Amino acid sequence: MNQFAADNDISGRADLAVVLRRFYTAAFADRRIGPFFTEIAGTDLEVHLSRITDFWERALFRTADYRRDAFAPHAALHAARALTAEDFGRWVQLWHATVDGLHRGPTAERAKATGERIALALHRRLAGPDPALLRREDACGFVPLAALELRSRA
Ligand code: HEM
Repeated sequence: MNQFAADNDISGRADLAVVLRRFYTAAFADRRIGPFFTEIAGTDLEVHLSRITDFWERALFRTADYRRDAFAPHAALHAARALTAEDFGRWVQLWHATVDGLHRGPTAERAKATGERIALALHRRLAGPDPALLRREDACGFVPLAALELRSRA
């Protein structure tokens, strides 16, 4: 597929299914966040893909019916092993790389921004407000990866 073609945006469920399979294949294999899926939750990739494709189809196109509680599984994970800012930063990094590797356009941008926004919201709800991350008004909706990497070395 030509990454620079004008019509290369995410156009519907079929595109999302490809993006999400690639993303979760990478996420499951990732040294930092993979164990949350493979060791802690024992996630079945195929079951997760069908649910998460509904979630993203709903988020981006409003065409699927997704009514499950997306917060609860992350709260359960966090109770078993803390989900840190660095973990969410890695999730966002993989998400951006996957979307950018396959698509280009307004919906691809929206997918990346939505992923970041949800990552930040999940992190904030699990960990409570972090002054280092939330000090500035304009930091809302964005997980500053550079800051997360610095924090992980601190
Ligand atoms: C480090 C970050 C994250 C980790 C390790 C993680 C891991 C997981 C795991 C293990 C599950 C449960 C899967 C299962 O076994 O059923 C789950 C569910 C889910 N995750 Fe995440 N997640 C992360 C961040 C995010 C973000 C940023 C989003 C935003 C799109 C997201 C969206 C979801 C949704 C919608 C579900 C529920 C799927 C369902 O309906 O069952 N996750 N996540």
